[in-house]
Amino acid sequence: MSDINYKNEFAQSANEHMYIGMFNETTMEKEGGPLIIDNSEGIYLKSYENAKYIDGISGMYFRNVGHGREEIAKAIYDQLANVSMNVYAGITPKSVELAQKISSLAPGDLSKTFFCQGGSEANESSLKMAQAYHVRNGDRGRYKIISRDGSYHGSTYLTEWLGGHPGFPRTDYQPSPQHLIHVEQPNYYRRKYENESINEFTDRLIQDIEDKILFHGPESISCFIGEPVSQPLGGVVPPSEYWPRVKEVCLKYGILLIFDEVITGFGRLGEWFGSNVVNTVPDILSFAKGITSGYFPLGGSISSTDISKVFNGEPSNAWSHMYTYSAHPGGAAAAMKNLEILERENLIENARERGIQLSERLSEIKDKSRIIGDNRGIGLLQGLEIVKDKKTKERFEPSKYINMILTEKLKSRGVWIRVPAYILPVAPPLTSTKDQINHICDAIDESLMELEKEVI
Ligand SMILES: Cc1ncc(COP(=O)(O)O)c(C=O)c1O
Repeated sequence: MSDINYKNEFAQSANEHMYIGMFNETTMEKEGGPLIIDNSEGIYLKSYENAKYIDGISGMYFRNVGHGREEIAKAIYDQLANVSMNVYAGITPKSVELAQKISSLAPGDLSKTFFCQGGSEANESSLKMAQAYHVRNGDRGRYKIISRDGSYHGSTYLTEWLGGHPGFPRTDYQPSPQHLIHVEQPNYYRRKYENESINEFTDRLIQDIEDKILFHGPESISCFIGEPVSQPLGGVVPPSEYWPRVKEVCLKYGILLIFDEVITGFGRLGEWFGSNVVNTVPDILSFAKGITSGYFPLGGSISSTDISKVFNGEPSNAWSHMYTYSAHPGGAAAAMKNLEILERENLIENARERGIQLSERLSEIKDKSRIIGDNRGIGLLQGLEIVKDKKTKERFEPSKYINMILTEKLKSRGVWIRVPAYILPVAPPLTSTKDQINHICDAIDESLMELEKEVI
């Protein structure tokens, strides 16, 4: 059987027997996909047809230390060969080692971790922890959640309604939870009023948050959840005053602040955590992806001592929450090795430096292109916003499938970035070199120039 037949058969079988998140058979067949990865090494993916691509979005924003790390695979193997799982109400040494390590890296007094399997579960856990904290304090009425339009916090029934990812419609899932309060994303490019300064913009957003809290009644609100820098709209870096002021408002009204650091945790922004970048310490922090660089499904919620201590004392005080596979030692072994690599190879510093290079290149591309309205982001979490008209910021009609055309153009230039809707995300592994960042940017530049000629 030739490789190509094998590939076709394999792809057809996948289309018949597997749901592939967000895509259907027709789309996949049109693209000749799904992309079947045969091998991956460093920042490169190799497909079954022997094509080589740069992984421009780190799998799905998780592959911080790059692909093909045998030492992580070996750490998982060694751990599972020794102790493969804990028992109900038990622990394993590796998970304790990891919890201690995370506490030493985390901002402020965040010190106690609950482990789960991924980002959605981490956020569900953080939200439940916040509500249970209020209940232990006698505030049973605090159950509402404030979140932001344009964020993404996961795909469980509750977490999917918190945000509003342009590539992730959730209107099939009704009714929407009734205890959510949505506020604006601090996206200055899109949301500012004409001639509004950045300070006026920040003042308006903070005032709106406070107004909504007062409208709903502070005594009914449990927490505020957001990503320090939000990915779906291409790396929205908020004005510098935004998060410190949100925290001030939360403190004023007894509302807990939860940071979703599922993408921003463990180095992607050029600091260990996004909290360090935005100079704000949350009460609870959710993490996943970068903790193992995707070598094992692992997530978690780390909380301050103020929170963890309310669950002590009487047995009925315990936090009532768990998953079968919490604190899997295989995940802990992968995470410990992953963190060792991040430190040993100075990858966080590299993300910071490559981030500056990337930002400069994307800014030049925006200035030159007739269909890029904005470049944004920090470290290796950046993006471009595609527009039909730079003056009016009007978008292309979805029926033009600009995103799919662009994905193909990038692919033909050796870069794998699946472009969702009108944002072109750029988030390669933290191991990327100067030349590799230039390769990605050259491919983006050429693809956009070609696209522009076809559509304008
Ligand atoms: C910021 C953020 N939070 C939560 C999630 C959900 O994580 P998972 O897909 O592991 O459940 C994601 C996934 O992309 C994310 O980007």
